[in-house]
Amino acid sequence: MTATLEHPRTVGTVLPVRIAGLGVGLPARIVTNDELAAELDTSDDWIRSRTGIAQRHVAAPHEATSDLAAAAGKAALADAGLGIEDVTTVLVATTSPDHRVPGTAPLVAAALGTEVSAFDVNAACSGFVTGLRVGGALAATGDGAVLVIGAETMTRIVDPEDRAVRVLFGDGAGAAVLVPDEHAHLGPFDLGSDGLDPSMLWCPDGGTRTPIAPTADGDPYLRMRGGDIYRHAVTRMVASSRAVLDTAGLGVDDVDLLVGHQANARILDAVVQRLGIDPDRSHVTVDVHANTSAASIPLALADARDRGRLKPGATVLLTAFGAGLTWASCLLTWDPEEDA
Ligand code: ACO
Repeated sequence: MTATLEHPRTVGTVLPVRIAGLGVGLPARIVTNDELAAELDTSDDWIRSRTGIAQRHVAAPHEATSDLAAAAGKAALADAGLGIEDVTTVLVATTSPDHRVPGTAPLVAAALGTEVSAFDVNAACSGFVTGLRVGGALAATGDGAVLVIGAETMTRIVDPEDRAVRVLFGDGAGAAVLVPDEHAHLGPFDLGSDGLDPSMLWCPDGGTRTPIAPTADGDPYLRMRGGDIYRHAVTRMVASSRAVLDTAGLGVDDVDLLVGHQANARILDAVVQRLGIDPDRSHVTVDVHANTSAASIPLALADARDRGRLKPGATVLLTAFGAGLTWASCLLTWDPEEDA
């Protein structure tokens, strides 16, 4: 008989690792809601009131996920004062890879000028926090820095005629350089998945289950049951956040900043309200970036840092939810002080 665990997920791991640098790669072109409304039966008012989104960055025709990822990675290394020679692993969290084969990370590593181990993590919107878990473990046990990048070109996998999905997404990349630091805390983590109904948010065809032949009909685009995703996103991010706080023996008042997956403002509001956290402590960038899937949390973290919202020693709670279903949350200490 298979045992059913009440919380079948990873908790408790606290890694002596800190984020030494952050960087972003955002396409130059910004598309407003009004521009989408010129092509689709939608409106700025509908999009803003349902999602909080005002605009999104959209990749140029010559830009793919690896280009945005490499730009973010390069910026993060410069921010950390490190060179590519200091990096032992390049990890790219993405659900919109350049190609089905190979992974995107080796292309990013090559663009950055290294032949170190490079691989993708596909946990959809939970990919960056999942990447922190994997990359953090590597940084804690290895002898160098690990580059964790969340990067997406979501506008390439949405159906341009599907207003219910297209308006939600944007393109971009955010990167973090992880380094070992005995004073730092990365964790606890809470990670999980529920793959019983992947059709809630998926690309139906084009994989090995239902390949698309060159002449056959098939649906390669991202499809979503929005109401179901909304409910699961709120429930899972709240439970997952509570799990890491409980494991750390902390309460919501100990959290200096919540950086949740920037899917939409209503989901973030509901998470904040149910957790009982002060809304002023939740950082929101969905208005300017829209939903950039695995890139949303590192983009928001970098924005929070640039706005002076990450003070040395701050306790930061990250929480994410995405297709799969997947979820991932963790705590981290920002810029840990030596006597902490
Ligand atoms: N513009 C105008 N009308 C629209 C649009 C649009 N862009 N999209 C859908 N509509 C219409 C629908 O067709 C529907 O019309 P009907 O009543 O005539 O059938 C009407 O608006 C209401 O549709 P609902 O889906 O009920 O709208 P709702 O208020 O639930 O909002 C939304 C939809 C925003 C997608 C909501 O379900 C939601 O927030 N879901 C979460 C999904 C999400 O954020 N996904 C992101 C990816 S997942 C992730 O990152 C975790």
